[in-house]
Order: sequence, then C-alpha cells, then structure tokens
Amino acid sequence: MTIDGPEGAPHDRCMKKLLVAARANPKYWADLFRAKLPGHDILEQKPIEDESPIAYVVVGRPPAGLVRSIPGLELVLSLNAGVEHLLASGEVPDDVPIVRLVDDGLTEGMVEWVLAQTLSWHRNLTAYRALQAEQSWAPMHEKLAHERIVTVLGAGALGSPVAQLLVRVGFQTRVWSRSGRAVPGASAFKGRDSLHAAAAGADVLVNLLPLTSDTANVVDASLLNALAPGAFVINAARGGHLVDGDLIAALDSNHLSGAALDVFREEPLPSGHPFWRHPKILVSPHVAAPTHAHIAVAAMVDNIRRYERGEPLRNVVDRNRGY
Ligand SMILES: NC(=O)c1ccc[n+]([C@@H]2O[C@H](COP(=O)([O-])OP(=O)(O)OC[C@H]3O[C@@H](n4cnc5c(N)ncnc54)[C@H](OP(=O)(O)O)[C@@H]3O)[C@@H](O)[C@H]2O)c1
Repeated sequence: MTIDGPEGAPHDRCMKKLLVAARANPKYWADLFRAKLPGHDILEQKPIEDESPIAYVVVGRPPAGLVRSIPGLELVLSLNAGVEHLLASGEVPDDVPIVRLVDDGLTEGMVEWVLAQTLSWHRNLTAYRALQAEQSWAPMHEKLAHERIVTVLGAGALGSPVAQLLVRVGFQTRVWSRSGRAVPGASAFKGRDSLHAAAAGADVLVNLLPLTSDTANVVDASLLNALAPGAFVINAARGGHLVDGDLIAALDSNHLSGAALDVFREEPLPSGHPFWRHPKILVSPHVAAPTHAHIAVAAMVDNIRRYERGEPLRNVVDRNRGY
C-alpha cells in the first residue's frame, strides 16, 4: 500500500507501528509523528492483550519493563542525546539498534547556553550584578577573549559546535575527546593521558561528555586543580561527571571563582542541596539544550526513512563505548 501524505510518502508501504513512550505530552508527540509518517500506526501507549509487532519505540526514560515487553522491536529512538539510562536498563535487545537524539535544535540550544555562561563569566556580568546590589562602582580588569583559555571536554555533536563558536569569538580553545577529534582553530587532546594537559591553566572548563563508565566523576579535584586560579566550570552534560564535594571545596578555597551547573546527580536538585545556596554557583534546571519536539521528530523520522530504505542509520549508539 502506498499512501500519499505530506512527505510524498513513497516509503509508507507498511503499517508499521511506532510507540511514543514520552513521559510528557505523548499525544502531542504522537500527532507530530502522525503528520510525518502517515502510513504508520502511531501509538500513544502499548496496547493491552495485543502482541502484534511494534517496530519502533520513541523513549526518554521509559518505565521499567516497557521496552523489554515490546514485541518485534526493530529500532529504539531516544528522546535524549544521552542514553545512559537506556543502556543501564539493559532492556534493549543486543540486536536492536538505539539511535540517540542529534538535531539542530539541541545543537543551537547548547551553543547558545555555553556561550552565554562563558561570556557572562568572562565579562564579569554576574559579579557586577552582585556589586550593583551594594551600589558599588568597582570596575574590574576586563580581559579580551583571546587572553582566555577555554577547554571543552567532548568534541561530539555538541562539543564540536560549541568549540567552533568559542574559536570564532576569539577564545584560545582546546577540545578533549577519546579519539582526538579535530575542531578547526582549536587544539585537540586525545584520551585519558592528555586530560590534565587539556585542562592545565584553562580559565573555563566546559563539560560536554556522555556519561559512561569511563567518564563518570571525570571532573574531580585533580582536574579542577589543573585549571588556572580563578577558573570557571560549566557542566552541561550530566551530574555524574562532577564530584560535587570537590567542586565545593575548590570554590570555597577560592581556587575557582564560580560554576554554572545545568545537570545534577539527582534531578530535580533536592531541596537543601548545598549547590542551591552557594554564592558562586549558578543553578539551572536542565535547560541548556531542551528537546524541541518538531525538530526532534524530523530527525527521528529521517532515521526511520533511512531504516526502511535499507540505508545506514545516523547516530547509532555504540554499546561497547557506551555512547
Ligand atoms: N544539559 C542539557 O540540556 C543536555 C542536552 C543534550 C545533551 N546533553 C549531554 O551532552 C552529552 C554530549 O552530547 P553529544 O551529542 O555531543 O555526544 P557525542 O556526539 O556522543 O559526543 C561525545 C564526545 O565525548 C567524547 N568522549 C566520550 N567518551 C570519552 C572518553 N572516555 N574520553 C574522552 N572523550 C570521550 C567523544 O569522543 P570521540 O569524538 O572520540 O568519540 C565525543 O567527542 C550527552 O551525552 C548528554 O549527557 C545535555
């Protein structure tokens, strides 16, 4: 059966099922998929007592047991860029590919957020806000971007464009990755042995790594101590990368001047957590790069089309690497 639709839909020959297991607004998501995949059967919840195959599932943090229970699963589409929860669940069969979310909305959002935090610290905007409260006219030494070193951990879908923009603004930019991936205009550092060299003397540290067994707790006292005195730390990846107590110690000893944290070991950040009230920490509620549904659906539909044409999928998770 060929069904005409907004996409021209030459590939919609089968009524394959797609289950949207989004926690928030599943109907909204499902309607976006219906508009883009008119020849598919889009479900908002798993039918009870119907064991017919569901080829695709779209998931963020699915309820325990859901993915395991899906009959005939062929492809898992993650609603997030990070897939550590999905992998940790162990529910996706080894032969079923997982594609993580990579789209222009996430990239644009992350680039904006990291640039905003970097420039705000670099040009002392937060410090002047505090001085204003005291009606204090106290100019600080204003450096130029080319006088600052920024190290970005991770040179992937997010780290790479972030580093590219930092280069364009004029920062001396370094990127650290597993494979030493090059970013034009930035110095590339490869592998664990070069981590401290990448951070040595840096004024700003930006974390954009995936959370894996290799990267957990990577931002610890030894890494923080390698940064320049008065440095600023930006964590936009996952809370599990940062050793909370080591950050607080480095701030309280005045080795670091501040930190902008968007992600936390426990989210929402529990009330009473020391980060909430720390005068040198900016807390934001995991909003650096939110998922924009219509952009995300377009990227996922592109991958479904590829799959159905027998073409290589984009952004497939490597289970051995964990990202
Ligand atoms: N706060 C938010 O709103 C938000 C939104 C979206 C994503 N995120 C977070 O951002 C993370 C990064 O996303 P992404 O799409 O850029 O991921 P990605 O494309 O998979 O890139 C990951 C980068 O990290 C490097 N890396 C991985 N393991 C490493 C290791 N052991 N040592 C050194 N480098 C390592 C990779 O090196 P290679 O290049 O050599 O592979 C790659 O450059 C996500 O996992 C998620 O946690 C946060």
